[in-house]
Amino acid sequence: MKHLLKLGDLTDKEIYHILNLADQLKFERKHGIEHPILKGKTLGMIFQKASTRTRVSFETGMYQLGGSALFLSSNDLQIGRGEPVQDTARVLSRYLDGIMIRTFEQQEVEDLAQYGSIPVINGLTDYAHPCQVLADLMTIRERKGMFKGLKLCFIGDGNNMANSLIVGGIKMGMAVSVACPTGYLPDAEICAWAKENGDFTCTTSVLEAAENADVIYTDVWASMGQEGEAAIRRAAFEGYQVNAEVMKVAKNDAMVLHCLPAHRGEEITADVFEAHADEIFEEAENRLHAQKAVLVTLMK
Ligand code: CP
Ligand code: NVA
Repeated sequence: MKHLLKLGDLTDKEIYHILNLADQLKFERKHGIEHPILKGKTLGMIFQKASTRTRVSFETGMYQLGGSALFLSSNDLQIGRGEPVQDTARVLSRYLDGIMIRTFEQQEVEDLAQYGSIPVINGLTDYAHPCQVLADLMTIRERKGMFKGLKLCFIGDGNNMANSLIVGGIKMGMAVSVACPTGYLPDAEICAWAKENGDFTCTTSVLEAAENADVIYTDVWASMGQEGEAAIRRAAFEGYQVNAEVMKVAKNDAMVLHCLPAHRGEEITADVFEAHADEIFEEAENRLHAQKAVLVTLMK
């Protein structure tokens, strides 16, 4: 494994390796065991969009591993003034040991990896959010003990989170159902792949998707960069909400996960969010451990 651009590039074995290492690093962190595995290494973190969890967990993760991290806002880089990604990749490869990038186009992340000579990590694009889903899988396995036999249900917009959850869920052997409004479906190639490789359903019916689910997952109705569409989306996504009615048709012990940030009263009710806050914030914490496992795997 040379990069983390999207989960579809990873074998099941590589995903299990990251999850196992993440569990180990979490245990060691809780017991005060330090491992300066990345001493002397520097991660550059390019952000073209806002972030709380991704920025702070990557930055502290690098420090905990003995290395350092540079926050690089695209507003301050020449890339924000039109310097080609091909040139940026070749320059940064001569200073850094790894790059994490959060941007719009998946192609930009792929280009950075192609033209650079150091590991590239996708910290979210419009197409995928692999780091989040590694933390989600870690949280599901912690709470449920295994993946096989579980049903993972995603309700909401078929963009980055849905795309990555479908791939991660199917690769780990879970049944995956998604409920999205017409016009907001997940990537067609990912859906076709999921149908061929596992138990996958895609519907417009929230209750059908949520029936007997072990894990209910949702995400914002308007993603970063879509703020101008908020009103249209609020109308399109009405009813695509994780609420008491949805939880009634899921399994009694169903978990609720949310990548955060959450909009209470839109994609999730405040009651359901608070009832599952332990799971949701453990999931947020697990970003740190899962990403440390990714950093060690790619940069050691
Ligand atoms: N879930 C997630 O990626 O959060 P941030 O946008 O705060 O990084
Ligand atoms: N779909 C959301 C995920 C945020 C972590 C967005 O892209 O803004």
